[in-house]
Parts: sequence; structure tokens; C-alpha cells
Amino acid sequence: MGISVDRLPGHVGIIMDGNGRWAEARGLDRSLGHEAGERALFDVVEGALEAGLRYLSVYAFSTENWSRPPSEVAFLLGFNRRLLRQRRDYMVERGVRMRRLGRRDPVPGDVLEEFDAAEEATRGNDRLALQVCFNYGGRAELEDAAARGSIPAHLYAPDLPDVDLLIRTSGEKRLSNFLLWQSAYAELYFTEMLWPDFSRAALFEALRDYAARRRRFGGLDEPGEGEPR
Ligand code: FPP
Repeated sequence: MGISVDRLPGHVGIIMDGNGRWAEARGLDRSLGHEAGERALFDVVEGALEAGLRYLSVYAFSTENWSRPPSEVAFLLGFNRRLLRQRRDYMVERGVRMRRLGRRDPVPGDVLEEFDAAEEATRGNDRLALQVCFNYGGRAELEDAAARGSIPAHLYAPDLPDVDLLIRTSGEKRLSNFLLWQSAYAELYFTEMLWPDFSRAALFEALRDYAARRRRFGGLDEPGEGEPR
């Protein structure tokens, strides 16, 4: 891949956008776009392992996604449940630690069970931390944390480092309530590519872009004293 380890982002966040449009452009049902998106995600996970990334967070289902047509919501719930069950052994074998970030309510119990089982099975892994944001909203996370005391201490995963590189596919240029606290200083990377077309090669391209940006704007590898990281 050709990027030295000290130029890799510690934490990459991805807003996986465009599954529906990818399917519609092919005259296919939107559900097939999500299935193609699953293949893209796991190719990216392989790429993250290959590159040596330590933290990868993906937006799988937002607090706003409940407002989609009931048939699509039902599909997405079943889809994620099936995906978690089928990919669990793979994550265990590859050293991936999976965690769900988001409110439990009103996620159906059978979906939460698959998340809990995957979290439990992968708890001992430490090669790549994969955060799956599900029924997640950045404002909700901040409200929940503030209600319990100091915000940084009560985020859904308090040990999660700041997002260094935030990728969004499909040409949309918005944060959409994704990891608001953690992305305060994130470098933003937008691509027109629809999520099902994304791949480990596309991830490497984004990593190269990130590495070059630091060189262009920084002059120093590390921020100076008193500057934000
Ligand atoms: C957006 O496409 C994408 C999603 C709703 C997320 C799909 C979820 C995955 C690919 C996998 C989740 C992973 C785990 C590990 C549980 P869209 O429907 O918003 O596309 P559109 O903007 O073109 O309509």
C-alpha cells in the first residue's frame, strides 16, 4: 500500500452511503444494494487489517433511519441480524473486536441478541476494533453522556480515540449526526463512489490522500504544543 505506519490514521470512520441508489441505478430492489454494501464493508475490513488500522467505525443504522418505509426498516433489521450471525466466526478468526454503539431502545431483542453475541465472542480480540453504529445518533450519544456526568467519560465507548479520517461515499457532504464528539478534528474525505462500489483499493486511496494532506498542511508530523490533535 506504500504508506508508512506513522502516517496512517489511528481511527477511520465511514458513512456508508448510496446502497439504495446503486441498486436503483441497476433496476434492482434496494435490498440488493444493502447486500452489495455488505460485501464492500467486509472487503474494507480486510483492507483495514492489511493496512494495520486499529480503529474502524461504520454507520450501519442511524436514529433517523426509523423513518424509512416500514418494509425497508424491517429488511435492514433482519439483514443486520443475519449479517452479524454469519460474520461472527470470521471476525473472531481475523482478530476483529466488534462493538455496537447506539441506544438499545427500540431495537428489537433478536437484533440486540446478535450484537451482544458478536461483542461477547470478539471481546478478547485486539487487532482491529470495529465499531458498528446502530440506532446511533451523535446528539443522542452526547445527551446520554451528559445525563450521566462528564461527557468524555460517558460516551458509548469512552476508550475510542478521536476520528482522524472520516469518509463518506455517494457524493453527499454531510456529517449526518455521526460520531460528533469524536470527529471534532477529523479530516474529511468525500467520494462520488456509491458504497457498494467502495473496496479496499478505495480505502487505500483515501489513506494515501490523508497521508498527503498531513504533509501538505502540517510541515510537522505531530501538532505543536497547544494545538488540537
Ligand atoms: C446507506 O445506503 C447504507 C446503509 C443504510 C447501511 C447498510 C449497512 C451495511 C452495509 C452493513 C452494516 C454492518 C454491520 C457490521 C452490522 P442508503 O440506503 O442510505 O442509500 P441511498 O442514500 O442511495 O438511498
